[in-house]
Amino acid sequence: MAWPRLRVEESPVLLADTAAKWIHDRAWEVVNAQGRFTIALSGGNTPRALYARLAAGPRLPWEKMDICFGDERAVPPDSPESNYRMVRETLLQAPGLPPERVHRMRAELPPEEAAREYEQTLRGLFPTAAPFPRFDLILLGLGPDGHTASLFPHSPGLSERQAWVLANWVEKFGTHRLSLSFPVLDAGTAVLFLVAGADKEWALHQVLQGGASVADVPARGVRPATGALTFLVDRAAAAGLVLRSA
Ligand code: 6PG
Repeated sequence: MAWPRLRVEESPVLLADTAAKWIHDRAWEVVNAQGRFTIALSGGNTPRALYARLAAGPRLPWEKMDICFGDERAVPPDSPESNYRMVRETLLQAPGLPPERVHRMRAELPPEEAAREYEQTLRGLFPTAAPFPRFDLILLGLGPDGHTASLFPHSPGLSERQAWVLANWVEKFGTHRLSLSFPVLDAGTAVLFLVAGADKEWALHQVLQGGASVADVPARGVRPATGALTFLVDRAAAAGLVLRSA
């Protein structure tokens, strides 16, 4: 694995602007070269501004994209907790985005059933994938505890090496969450972490410059075999990093 690329932006606004431009350019580049662009979206709050920019900014090749989710809470799609709802309120407001290009995790189903169903959805999108689908871009966030997607510290899903999608038991929430597995994250052609806020300082330092275990800081377990790994962070989250002078 190549060393992760790190880019520090002064603010969350600039982070969203930079990410939006990069994703716009990458989507057109891949569609022009391969005819399709597949993306797995991260949830939570950080990407909200990015998704709004992508919807309102220069047009993406929506009709040639497959928009998937990296994880989802075990709630209905209209729940305030739902990552899909956050994406529907932002990215899916883009004019001309065909709804059939959006592949929602039906997390309102029983967890294992929802995971198996989503894995079948992905197998339909990546019919020749062996052993894992290669998303053109996987967006990830970072929790203050070092989780990413819904791969939480010391959760059983960290050890999954075969399934594409898992129903992960998250002890601290007393619930399951759906998540892509580490092998799927590692198969990505490009993996982009978006990290903003002082509350991420400890976790980001552990991921990039600390010695924590993957069990303690699961985001350290994202190691694309051949894909490009990039951390796009804001100054507040980067405060704990020792940065080489530019
Ligand atoms: C989720 C996300 C999760 C998120 C981190 C950071 O379902 O919440 O997929 O992995 O990226 O928790 O969340 P914030 O961006 O809200 O800090």
